[in-house]
Amino acid sequence: MQEKIDQYTADIQAFSPANADELEAFRIKYLGTKGLIKDLFEEFKTVGPEEKRVFGKVLNQFKQTAEAKYAELKEGLDSGAKTQDLGLDLTLPGDGFEVGSRHPLSLVRNEIIDIFKRLGFVVAEGPEIEDDWHNFSALNFPQEHPARDMQDTFFIRKGDGSDDIALRTHTSSVQVRMMENGRPPFRAIMPGRVYRNEAISARAHCFFHQVEGLYVDENVSFADLKQTLFHFVQELYGEGTKVRFRPSYFPFTEPSAEMDISCTICKGDGCNMCKYTGWVEILGCGMVDPNVLENCGIDSKKYTGFAFGMGIERITNLKYVIRDLRLFSENDVRFLKQFQTDII
Ligand code: DAH
Repeated sequence: MQEKIDQYTADIQAFSPANADELEAFRIKYLGTKGLIKDLFEEFKTVGPEEKRVFGKVLNQFKQTAEAKYAELKEGLDSGAKTQDLGLDLTLPGDGFEVGSRHPLSLVRNEIIDIFKRLGFVVAEGPEIEDDWHNFSALNFPQEHPARDMQDTFFIRKGDGSDDIALRTHTSSVQVRMMENGRPPFRAIMPGRVYRNEAISARAHCFFHQVEGLYVDENVSFADLKQTLFHFVQELYGEGTKVRFRPSYFPFTEPSAEMDISCTICKGDGCNMCKYTGWVEILGCGMVDPNVLENCGIDSKKYTGFAFGMGIERITNLKYVIRDLRLFSENDVRFLKQFQTDII
């Protein structure tokens, strides 16, 4: 017996499996239910008492040695298999993962909101599907005004054939809803998506985004309008950005103006962004027409107000020098990931 044990011990110590199959064969050979160790124990039963005393201990030790060797080899094979199979060096640092980014239009919208919030404006929203009253009539659009034309507006034909419902063409409709549902003073900005029946190109899209502003109280003047928008531009595009107001026309404001800023790209020297004029238009504005106040149940003798509306795409184009509107809605990650921010 001693001879066998010595022989097996030597074999076990020398054993080195190349793979899991060889290790399993090893286990069956020595530790299996019909294995060599089992045989030794059977043989042990047949020996005399003197030998039993000697071999009892030796045999048990041998069994433990075989079991320990098996456990050690198995562990080595398992961890080796993992690293080998995956081809990984587990000591290397992990791969970085991509963090999403805000859409540039959201970034700019949030920036605009923040600036006006600091001036005490609240944020309001309204529906994208509007009726004629809120989108046009209450805003003092004459019945035959070209903006109601099918060219510009996506009308929604109802079951009864009427087409009083449309996708809103501007966020000015939210002004009406706000004034109808509350009492002055109003000081609000109203961001949202608007729709127009335009062919899609680098410069036009069938939907885009606006931010509307409204300030109604006693004694609100054009000077308040100018100062508020001047401040806004300094905050958004930096101190020293110049503004100019050009007379214009909107049905819902009187007087009306368009506001230009000194070109953010060339600082007024002339470039193709400003068509070599040094100025770029960024918004429409004016004093709320008394008819609009009255349409919303507000006493136009007591209250005056100003309003303004700007396209978020336009503001964003100027801020980030983007020349094709289509980029905003194509979801090309190569474009979007350039606006990585740490606001998540
Ligand atoms: N609603 C106008 C547009 O879509 C923008 C606008 C101009 C809004 C003047 C105003 C405003 O509130 O006073 O072109």
